[in-house]
Amino acid sequence: MAEIVIRNTNERITGEENVREFLNNQEVVYEHWNMEKLPAALQENFKLSDDDKKRILDIFDVEIRDLAARRGYKIWDVITLSESTPNIEDLLKKFEEVHTHSEDEIRAIVGGKGIFIIKGSDDVGYFNVELEPGDVISVPENTPHFFTLMENKQIIAVRLFIEENGWVATPVADPQFQ
Ligand SMILES: [Fe+2]
Repeated sequence: MAEIVIRNTNERITGEENVREFLNNQEVVYEHWNMEKLPAALQENFKLSDDDKKRILDIFDVEIRDLAARRGYKIWDVITLSESTPNIEDLLKKFEEVHTHSEDEIRAIVGGKGIFIIKGSDDVGYFNVELEPGDVISVPENTPHFFTLMENKQIIAVRLFIEENGWVATPVADPQFQ
């Protein structure tokens, strides 16, 4: 289950209800998928073949199509990142820049861990959302944020898009980021 850290105060928010309430107040969509559907061999394999990725999409087809029908997504895929990803350090440096895009950024974590750093309301400031398998999160459109991995540097996620170009990142130089 996801946990929140408010970056200005280091306050940690845990527990499903508290996390859900916090994220709802920040207009961040937060849902959960049942990970028992996914064989362990797929959850722990960070070098997925195209066939493995297709299997993951097939296993969560109902959840994906439900999200797509509610929120207008038209295309989806699976990405995996780990220390075996070529140029992972350079990639992470590139990821770790505050940016916005014109589409929301929705990710369903199905393996590994990751963090979204998101700009909240004025009274909250930036906060971290620590994600684990089963967590589904959508950063609202035009909201400054970035994504990075946790210490284990491993993640598998389903991404959904409304259109292929909708998520082109626009960097934000935000003096409030810390
Ligand atoms: Fe983004």
